[in-house]
Amino acid sequence: MRSVAALLTFAVSAFAYSVTEPSNPTVWTNGDSTEVVSWTKVVTDPANFTIVLVNQHVDPPTQQVLATLVDGSMGSVAVIAPRAVAGQRYQVNLVQDAQHLDSILAQSGEFTITN
Ligand SMILES: *[C@@H]1O[C@H](CO)[C@@H](O)[C@H](O)[C@H]1NC(C)=O
Repeated sequence: MRSVAALLTFAVSAFAYSVTEPSNPTVWTNGDSTEVVSWTKVVTDPANFTIVLVNQHVDPPTQQVLATLVDGSMGSVAVIAPRAVAGQRYQVNLVQDAQHLDSILAQSGEFTITN
């Protein structure tokens, strides 16, 4: 059991990106409005990532790439929510790269996008 616990601790600390914005009460406006994605990083995190806007609560679930090769050391980046995207319970995922959208490094809380 001890070795399993050690492995789990390593797995968590190896990918410690954490999304601070958007979060649960956040509301984005779609179209031309500039919105901010912010995160915290530790030295063991990958240098860069891709930002994906997802909604797991619609059928079929949606995922749209908002930015690729984002430099993790920046701490925040401006993005634009695609026109016509609106609804509740959207999330922003930080993923490995545009070819691996399911390799999730961190996930935001659920937030709303309005017109
Ligand atoms: C992005 O990060 C990966 C993994 O850390 C690294 O191998 C790659 O060189 C980086 N690419 C750029 C353009 O920074």
